[in-house]
Amino acid sequence: MKSFKLALVGATGVVGRAAQKVLEEKNLPISEYAFFASKKSAGSKINFLGKEYVVKELDEHSFDEVFDFAIFSAGAGTAKKYAPIAAEHGCIVVDNSSAFRMDKDIPLVVPEVNPEEIKNNHGIIANPNCSTIQAVVALKPLDDKYTIKRIVYSTYQAVSGAGRDGIDDLENGIKNFKEGQDINVAESNKYDLKKFPYPIFNNCLPHIDVFLDNGYTKEEMKMINETRKILGKPDLAITATTVRVPVLNSHSESINVEFEKEFDINEVKNLLAKSQDITLIDDIKNEKYPIATDATGQDNVLVGRVRRDFSIANGLNFWCVADNIRKGAASNAVQIVEKLIEMNS
Ligand code: A2P
Repeated sequence: MKSFKLALVGATGVVGRAAQKVLEEKNLPISEYAFFASKKSAGSKINFLGKEYVVKELDEHSFDEVFDFAIFSAGAGTAKKYAPIAAEHGCIVVDNSSAFRMDKDIPLVVPEVNPEEIKNNHGIIANPNCSTIQAVVALKPLDDKYTIKRIVYSTYQAVSGAGRDGIDDLENGIKNFKEGQDINVAESNKYDLKKFPYPIFNNCLPHIDVFLDNGYTKEEMKMINETRKILGKPDLAITATTVRVPVLNSHSESINVEFEKEFDINEVKNLLAKSQDITLIDDIKNEKYPIATDATGQDNVLVGRVRRDFSIANGLNFWCVADNIRKGAASNAVQIVEKLIEMNS
């Protein structure tokens, strides 16, 4: 069997570490690995598949050595600078950042939804935003059957999506609270926040990524534009409100969707339950529904609270939870690499 060579860029970050774990679990036919990060962690050690690796500093020459594939999880700036260099050297890059997602020549892929796009790559494949991935996994079987007319997203997003600094802000907030410090936004400076503009502990912040001229945040527009691109419906009516909540890991989403066609609610539940990538947890009699702590550590998208929106014709509400670091980033990227391996074997 053919064997491949893979580079992991941003190996020391939250997503990079999760990617190592997913790669270890899958044990793909990859015989050589290399781990890159910034100068800050160059020289540090990584134990991976029973071997010790030294983290290398990423630079213009990192891809002089030929890699078949690279997973980038090091932010948009790093991706813009180095992914094209890797691609020029014949490497196929799966990039987790927002750098290339909306480029019309770059596939934006969720393997359960639009795997056929993978073959259209010219060296770079974009991994969608975490909140978009879990939503489209849940929406795809419904769109195929009933044709989506409009979507309203409301998200409750974990701090791990903001990287190590986001996690630190929540953990420091909890620590300060335990030490008896007052939670006072006016005095938020004293909390030494690394990522968020206000304390995330004890707050919900309707602010993820930067604000845009249209009044939406960039995260909201990512959900809107990326959903349209992945579902291949450039004009689909979608609106979104994205909120950061004091949860360590796994994003929760309330999804309201209007279909062109009529549906039977039990048929909808059966359709969701039948999908290999979705776990339906919808037993309200026994108070069972998806929660973030259940989603963490797995790749399936959890769906529940499935019910008719009786304020409109053909309307549906459901609750959708997934591990934003695994399925929302690392696992999705590794699944794309897995497909590339299948195509190239
Ligand atoms: P480092 O640990 O050396 O800073 P997170 O999203 O959890 O903050 O992680 C970001 C990841 O991207 C880390 O692995 C970080 O490495 C890496 N990174 C950040 N900037 C660069 C850069 N200029 N070149 C390579 N890797 C980078």
